[in-house]
Amino acid sequence: MRIVVAGAAGFIGSHFCDRLIADGHTVVAFDNFLTGSPSNLSALRNEPRFSLIDQDITQPFELHGAVDAVANLASPASPKDYLEHPIETLDAGALGTRRMLELALAKGARFLLTSTSECYGDPLVHPQVETYWGNVNPVGPRSCYDESKRFAEALTMAYHRQHGIRTNIARIFNTYGPRMKLDDGRVVPAFVDQALRSEPMTIFGDGSQTRSFCYVDDLVDGLCRLMLSDERYPVNLGNPHEMTILEFAEHIRSVTGSASPIQFRPLPEDDPKVRRPDISKARALLGWSPCVPLEEGLRRTVEYFRGVRTIGAS
Ligand SMILES: NC(=O)c1ccc[n+]([C@@H]2O[C@H](COP(=O)([O-])OP(=O)(O)OC[C@H]3O[C@@H](n4cnc5c(N)ncnc54)[C@H](O)[C@@H]3O)[C@@H](O)[C@H]2O)c1
Repeated sequence: MRIVVAGAAGFIGSHFCDRLIADGHTVVAFDNFLTGSPSNLSALRNEPRFSLIDQDITQPFELHGAVDAVANLASPASPKDYLEHPIETLDAGALGTRRMLELALAKGARFLLTSTSECYGDPLVHPQVETYWGNVNPVGPRSCYDESKRFAEALTMAYHRQHGIRTNIARIFNTYGPRMKLDDGRVVPAFVDQALRSEPMTIFGDGSQTRSFCYVDDLVDGLCRLMLSDERYPVNLGNPHEMTILEFAEHIRSVTGSASPIQFRPLPEDDPKVRRPDISKARALLGWSPCVPLEEGLRRTVEYFRGVRTIGAS
């Protein structure tokens, strides 16, 4: 297949491209490098089936030739990034998604949207099932991301209903792995960075809030399966293994061999207290569930961050 991937130079996008190329597909990658970097795609630089185009998907573009599938991953995704770029984030979900849907429509291609568990907001239903409509503050600081994705989901369904496009919507839960940015403020790179520096590990709140973390290879496998399925409604993709942030900090200390102490800070506004996907739908429809154990995923991630820090220091 010839597949257009928007947001290809980001954390998940770059792993997705690696997988599509390894599976024999041709990839046309779009990115404006707002939060991603071409260096994430350096392994594909000499690959003839891969091309990278510097393109903001909220702006008009032309793409010649047939396209079989369009995957839209383009959006700032870490709280630090979307709080710094709230308008770009809303535009990416609204205008950007619209342009990618128009591309899919014009080419007769299928369309994949990467949405987010943030659509559930601070959830009142636990674990989160796809039929739960969420508890989102529409005007809080995080609303630029949450509402951008909720709009993108609604737009995707509207294109499916009005134009019959074969669409898929992935609701991605916290994902981690190599190529996350060390300074993006998300809990995995923040903890690993602090642990490797032997600095205090910062926990917001009392550490009893829960999260579940999915290794990026598992997530990408879920996206590939979903992209070929006939399910039009959202499907949760994430790891249902839930733990408190305090427990997670302990795991990072153990994998890094660090003796960093824990430091507590006030909880940011609208921070969800619990987060765990119900993945029954993905299991039944896609035969998918995550298989990389946390210790193994963390080991690979810490190895990557050690490498990044060594390059940075030299
Ligand atoms: N990482 C997670 O845990 C997670 C969780 C839920 C959902 N998601 C979703 O998965 C997708 C990828 O997330 P990520 O973690 O890789 O984030 P990322 O910031 O690493 O990657 C996003 C990429 O999109 C690009 N981009 C942003 N706006 C653009 C625009 N207007 N035009 C072209 N490119 C643009 C960025 O430069 C970046 O390369 C996002 O849509 C995000 O909402 C991620």
